[in-house]
Amino acid sequence: MIARLHRLGRAFFGVLRRPMARAFDAAENPLNHLGAMTIFFLWIVLISGIWLLIFFRTSVSGAFESVEYLTREQWYLGGIMRSLHRYASDAAIITILLHIVKEFVFNRYRSNRWFTWVTGIPLVWMIFVLGITGYWLVWDELAQYVAITSAELMDSIPIFTDSMAGNFLSDDLLSNRFFTLMAFLHLIGLPIFLVFGIWLHVFRLNGPRINPARRLMAASLIAMLVLSALYPAISHEQAELAMTPQSLRLDWFYLHVYPLVQIWSPGWVWVFLVGISTVIVIAPWAPPQKKEQAALVTLDFCNGCERCVDDCPFGAVEMVPRTDGTNYTHQAGVDPDLCISCGICVGACPTATPFRSRGELLPGIDLPDRMASALREDIIAAGKQGESPHVIVFACRDDQQVQEIEKAGLSFVKVNCMGQLPPSYVDFTLSRGHADGVLLLGCLDGNCSYRYGAEWTEQRLARQRDPMLRRRVDMSRVAIGWQAPWSENSGVVQKYEAFLRSLQQ
Ligand code: HEM
Ligand code: SF4
Ligand code: SF4
Repeated sequence: MIARLHRLGRAFFGVLRRPMARAFDAAENPLNHLGAMTIFFLWIVLISGIWLLIFFRTSVSGAFESVEYLTREQWYLGGIMRSLHRYASDAAIITILLHIVKEFVFNRYRSNRWFTWVTGIPLVWMIFVLGITGYWLVWDELAQYVAITSAELMDSIPIFTDSMAGNFLSDDLLSNRFFTLMAFLHLIGLPIFLVFGIWLHVFRLNGPRINPARRLMAASLIAMLVLSALYPAISHEQAELAMTPQSLRLDWFYLHVYPLVQIWSPGWVWVFLVGISTVIVIAPWAPPQKKEQAALVTLDFCNGCERCVDDCPFGAVEMVPRTDGTNYTHQAGVDPDLCISCGICVGACPTATPFRSRGELLPGIDLPDRMASALREDIIAAGKQGESPHVIVFACRDDQQVQEIEKAGLSFVKVNCMGQLPPSYVDFTLSRGHADGVLLLGCLDGNCSYRYGAEWTEQRLARQRDPMLRRRVDMSRVAIGWQAPWSENSGVVQKYEAFLRSLQQ
């Protein structure tokens, strides 16, 4: 069932990908930066919100008029800010939903990643409550509908003794204090919690990508400015509690649940919302999964260089005081509760070299389930088998292309993530004559299952990041085929054949 949902979601991303890939490169494709795009939209919401706050009056009588003033009298700035505030909030809902689906369908929520997943859920609740209280503050007919329906929802929770709906029986009963409370929640309380929540959400990640590419930000801002100028956000008629609003333009991004209160009952709406949230919370453990072994440090080979700390995308390695009495001051220490066994630290370790001739090949840090020594054996086994030129393909286990390679019967060596492959293994493969060419296949940057595998690999091969590929390696014998993980047909065999032809020339 879960696998079927994953497949369905991947197909959905495949459909979205086609037009997006035509318009953007990987660094600028919004589908590759959904979390960062959400943060960018929230920045727009914050900045436009500050402008609205300057003119907003937090009283029942003043609220509607102050928003009307901004929309009509100050349309060139206040009106645009109001529209930006709304459209950026709507855009944030789209990117959050896509972000959740993407993390789910590409399996980035299980094992030790549960923390980032679970801390995302309160963020969704906060953003919805922020949006709902925002509609409330305008105090027009829509706000009236939102206020009364929200009060029905709150009153159905048995913990409240006073009826909230009682506040909305008539205009006289509606107190400024209640209204100021809403304004406080929307303008100060919830934003502070949201900032803290986003920090908590990404704090276990090493180098979280919180800013999208500049051109992407500029293009999204321009698109929203154009939308704001063409279709400015406007209010309904002023709220009048004695009257029932006849026709409302609902913002379906935030208010889709409200009609359900009338169709079902407030109680069932809570069951629905809490039910969905619970299913999402338990998703990382449903069904339980066998945990892979965490990376293991062998002190005899650890020189305390810290490269594994810098490169681990999940903050699972830290330097701790040396315990073996050698001259080094520090050693690497792995937290097994954070490690997700991607192997990127092995790719970073200068002692993970297949050229070692004496003793066992044990680097400073290694993966017990996919050891550096086994990788070397696999290369030797896949090595030159007669025909020339011979190419060895290194493939990331999560890459869709692996199945196609297996079907085509090519010689290949599987790694947990392309970032697990130390550059010295490429040198070893070519300089020891195990192959005439090396083709590396992994997930396109922004889609790497382990966040930084593609980026670190490119930098190591380009000799921009330690450990660097040695200069003696002829780069015309090395090819890389990054592929978005949702591609239906990656054309890997064609890539392989094109590379073979280039080697023959
Ligand atoms: C306000 C809403 C949210 C924002 C601003 C946000 C932002 C981010 C950012 C910036 C990252 C780091 C991306 C990277 O550097 O690789 C991230 C990762 C992640 N997010 Fe969110 N997120 C939000 C909501 C959610 C929700 C609701 C979920 C799921 C229920 C979720 C699940 C995840 C997961 C699983 C990762 C980690 C992926 C990994 O381990 O590689 N996020 N998020
Ligand atoms: S990269 Fe290797 S040698 Fe350097 S600190 Fe980490 S385990 Fe030790
Ligand atoms: S295997 Fe991956 S998560 Fe674990 S310590 Fe190494 S780089 Fe970090």
